[in-house]
Amino acid sequence: MTTKTVLITGANKGIGFETALQLGKLGYHIILSARDESKLEIAVDLLKTQGINLTSLQMDVSDLESIKSAFQEISTKFDKIDVIINNAGILLDRDGEFLDISSQTFEKTLQTNAIGPFYIVQTFLPLLQKGNKIINVSSDGGQILNGISTWAPAYCISKTTLNTITLQLASALKIKGISVNAMSPGWVRSDMGGVSASRTLSEGADTIVWLADEVSSNITGKFFKDKKEMHW
Ligand SMILES: NC(=O)c1ccc[n+]([C@@H]2O[C@H](COP(=O)([O-])OP(=O)(O)OC[C@H]3O[C@@H](n4cnc5c(N)ncnc54)[C@H](OP(=O)(O)O)[C@@H]3O)[C@@H](O)[C@H]2O)c1
Repeated sequence: MTTKTVLITGANKGIGFETALQLGKLGYHIILSARDESKLEIAVDLLKTQGINLTSLQMDVSDLESIKSAFQEISTKFDKIDVIINNAGILLDRDGEFLDISSQTFEKTLQTNAIGPFYIVQTFLPLLQKGNKIINVSSDGGQILNGISTWAPAYCISKTTLNTITLQLASALKIKGISVNAMSPGWVRSDMGGVSASRTLSEGADTIVWLADEVSSNITGKFFKDKKEMHW
């Protein structure tokens, strides 16, 4: 069996790093991506000590030029990517009031958490083929059908937008046989989630790993948490 390759964004720490560790242990070749070269190097060294097979990739998901040059670099080394995990994310307006939000916070949050993931799929599409998967790491905060969350409004709007992008991409890529799903890791003890969060990194990465490794690529346009479908 040929080794499967997975690109994980924002993977120098937190849920992205943990996902890299778990999928690496399952035999995947990891393209470990982060925006900061020095943090990326530290993460790469840590994973190598665990025997993980990987390639490092500097990429700022909020910057289209950075995404394009990352694609140039990767397309000289790989002729396919089996799974893209759009994990990178920021939470800038934790306790902010929606009406007080600054343009910098709003635009940076949308750019990083929602628009960046779309540009990554659009740019890396030449490396994707039938049976490949895209997994967008969203949040409970992106849900709208049972009412919205008013906590961290820019963040929640960015995740609702990411969910809509997931549906649009799933529809656009169905003809190519590429699946696109969103998932929520729950409240996880990372730098973003904080020390009081209820879930370990391993629990946070669990559904991502399951989607990448076990779920059929015929399943597309869905939103998952704890390996179960949830409402948008
Ligand atoms: N933790 C939770 O409770 C929770 C709940 C729901 C959803 N999520 C989602 O899970 C994902 C991972 O979060 P986490 O908890 O692991 O947070 P984290 O520990 O803060 O890690 C976030 C990662 O994203 C990277 N990142 C941020 N902006 C980036 C950019 N422009 N380009 C490339 N990488 C960038 C960070 O890199 P730097 O180190 O360079 O900043 C870091 O590696 C996020 O999408 C988050 O929204 C988390």
